[in-house]
Amino acid sequence: MNEVKEIVNVWDIVAEDFGKSEPRYWNDFGYKLVEYSNITKGNKVLDIAVGRGASLFPSVNKVKSSGYVVGIDSSKVMIEETHKDILSKNIVNAEVKVMDADELDFPEDYFDNVVCGFGIGYLLLGKHKLKNVIKVLKTGGQVAFSIWGVQEDQKWLGDTINRYLKVDNVKDKHKNQDIPKFDDVKSVEKILKEAGFKNIKVHEEVEKVIYKDKNMWWKEMHTNAVRKIFDKIESLGFESYVQFKVDIFNDLDKFKKDNCLHFNMPVIYAFGEK
Ligand SMILES: C[S@@+](CC[C@H](N)C(=O)[O-])C[C@H]1O[C@@H](n2cnc3c(N)ncnc32)[C@H](O)[C@@H]1O
Repeated sequence: MNEVKEIVNVWDIVAEDFGKSEPRYWNDFGYKLVEYSNITKGNKVLDIAVGRGASLFPSVNKVKSSGYVVGIDSSKVMIEETHKDILSKNIVNAEVKVMDADELDFPEDYFDNVVCGFGIGYLLLGKHKLKNVIKVLKTGGQVAFSIWGVQEDQKWLGDTINRYLKVDNVKDKHKNQDIPKFDDVKSVEKILKEAGFKNIKVHEEVEKVIYKDKNMWWKEMHTNAVRKIFDKIESLGFESYVQFKVDIFNDLDKFKKDNCLHFNMPVIYAFGEK
């Protein structure tokens, strides 16, 4: 099984709850990405790796009724759930489709904006890299990416997981692939420049994410890609899983402030024009 397939599977599993569990930071970051972009009334927008629409719904608000937003995602369940949300909100100028980020099936010079929240890795892992993004953008059109910066506040989690699963994690697998580093401003600027984008603007913000308590943190982790790793640990047996949870809950004390858990989550916001 190749890596892209494995990732798609975990997204199918978490799709129903993804972004719906507090503290809902995906929505906050998606909203910000759209606010920082130049999406405006009447624009045609493509959202790559749309998920549950963290950037799609704010884009719909920006383009108003004269614009159009299309979201694509390789997870069938994610698309089904987001489609239901579009219907329940009575939105008529947005649609979502199952499509791989590397196989964009749209006319050339078609979109005013392409947004991609936390999905640039899937593009860079593909054979076309960012070439198809450029192809589907109109001349002067803008791409907007949000990308995880270096997550210092998550490093302990990797260490704890490694005590239970002595396997290479996703990050290690990426190291073996022919893709550039994309977790700091300079590397992202270089990627956009080499892809041929102009008027590149990249900055990082240290976002503050606050969980009310440890149970909220534990629950939220089961709604994102970390779920796959937690499920692997659960498959080691009941005792290991209980001990893992005890270890994690002890580790979480480091982030306690005012009875809540506070994490710094650096996010890179990157923009370029065709
Ligand atoms: C971290 S989530 C981000 C979702 C959304 N953009 C957001 O900001 O909340 C990543 C999304 O990428 C999708 N994905 C994973 N691999 C993909 C691929 N090769 N092509 C398209 N989408 C992919 C997953 O199904 C998931 O919905």
